[in-house]
Amino acid sequence: MYLKGALLFSLLASSLAAPTANGDRKVKRGVLTVQDYSQFQVSDGVAGNALAEVNAKFPIDQSDLASVDPQDLAIIKAARETAEAAETDEGGFNDAIKAAGGTSTAAGKALQNGKIKNKVLKLQLEVLALQIEAAQGGSNNTAKIAEEQKKLDTNIKLDQAAAGQPSQSVDFQGSDQP
Ligand SMILES: *[C@@H]1O[C@H](CO)[C@@H](O)[C@H](O)[C@H]1NC(C)=O
Repeated sequence: MYLKGALLFSLLASSLAAPTANGDRKVKRGVLTVQDYSQFQVSDGVAGNALAEVNAKFPIDQSDLASVDPQDLAIIKAARETAEAAETDEGGFNDAIKAAGGTSTAAGKALQNGKIKNKVLKLQLEVLALQIEAAQGGSNNTAKIAEEQKKLDTNIKLDQAAAGQPSQSVDFQGSDQP
């Protein structure tokens, strides 16, 4: 009886001390809060710095994606969907550019710059979500990440090519509520 208890205790102690695959994984507390699109969009101001602006709005630790809080991942995914809707849905960038007379007018060009920044937002959030899921779930997103990263790089270059030009957002209703 006594021996059994002592043995059990020592087994328990060693299992507690032994590092396990999951034992070292610490989920960080969430760093993101639910916001309206108007708060997390990056299209106002000037072109040229979209990626840094996106990362400032979504300040997750990209060096430790395995530890990203599940709620943060859910917010990132919801924000990505809303950013996409702000491009193609009614009242989004495509509509606004058309209403401004196309991209050759001053207003249309500023909206086009805003649309490119919004694409950087959408694609960076998509790549991030895929990377987090790969880091956490073990799903192989390699091919999809490469595909989306390529689109992201294209739009980062377009944004940089327009650096300093006015950029205009759209008054789009939506949030990143999961
Ligand atoms: C993941 O997918 C990529 C591309 O589809 C493939 O090259 C790679 O071997 C896969 N990795 C694993 C661990 O299955």
